[in-house]
Amino acid sequence: MKNYTSLADIDNLETLIKEARSLKSNNTAPNLGNGKILGMLFFNPSLRTRLSTEKAARLLGMEVMVMNADKDGWALEFEDGAIMDSNKAEHIKEAAAVLSQYCDIIAVRAFPELKNKEKDESEQVLNSFKKYASVPVINLESATGHPLQALTDAITIQEFKNAKKKPKVVLSWAPHPKALPQSVPNSFVEIMQKLEVDLVITNPEGYDLNPEIRKDTRVEHDQEKAFEDADFVYVKNWSSYENYGQVLNVEKNWTVNKEKLKQSNNAKVMHCLPVRRNVVIADDILDSENSIVIQQANNRTFAAQAVLKRILECLK
Ligand code: CP
Repeated sequence: MKNYTSLADIDNLETLIKEARSLKSNNTAPNLGNGKILGMLFFNPSLRTRLSTEKAARLLGMEVMVMNADKDGWALEFEDGAIMDSNKAEHIKEAAAVLSQYCDIIAVRAFPELKNKEKDESEQVLNSFKKYASVPVINLESATGHPLQALTDAITIQEFKNAKKKPKVVLSWAPHPKALPQSVPNSFVEIMQKLEVDLVITNPEGYDLNPEIRKDTRVEHDQEKAFEDADFVYVKNWSSYENYGQVLNVEKNWTVNKEKLKQSNNAKVMHCLPVRRNVVIADDILDSENSIVIQQANNRTFAAQAVLKRILECLK
């Protein structure tokens, strides 16, 4: 693996999931990253991604440097040929080249602005790092995808599923006061499409995900109907794709609570976190055994460790 910027960088998903689960039970490569440095740049906040990826790197013997690039770094210019007389003091060409001398792997988090669909879909920040860095690049959540989260989610479903049954997995939209990116649901749908699961997406009208990502995945606009016989319910808010970046007025209550799970197969409930209690998911789920959000967050470490291990093996 040369980079991990999207799920397309995974050669064999089943093998990578097995590797992550194996690393979870036995850290077989504690020295693989000795002498190597992971540099992580955050243009947006993080708890899990930052700490689990740092932990994963340390478990492999790496050193880690972290920078809150939005607050502590020079404002970066990404446009080629720009006349840099605005507040942007440094061009990505120099920034990425310099960072490539300090770090053996660069990891970047850069959310979308949710104003201009085409601009967000161009993944300017992530792709510029990929273009101008001379070392591997990892996506810590970009404008349209969160592949480390998706790998975590796949690991978690493999861990909790009944081995004898193809699981029914429902991705459910839920309310949120702010406009959130589609990156987590996009990557979740993409990774589930690669696994042996029966995937259903449920969301209100106006919240259908990008059709190029949904492909032929079933969309059910009746949430409770979608939950029938579900083994896993993955809850997440996202802003509208059609009315790009907007929070729409939705009449029905889409908060996921215990009552709504009654027709499910005692579904395990997942969320990437952070979660707004009693807005996105009710306390009666989060404080119950149906919730596996903490176990899911724990798997962030092993997803990152498996990815870093693959990249380090390529650097040898
Ligand atoms: N799920 C996730 O990416 O969490 P953080 O935003 O805290 O990193």
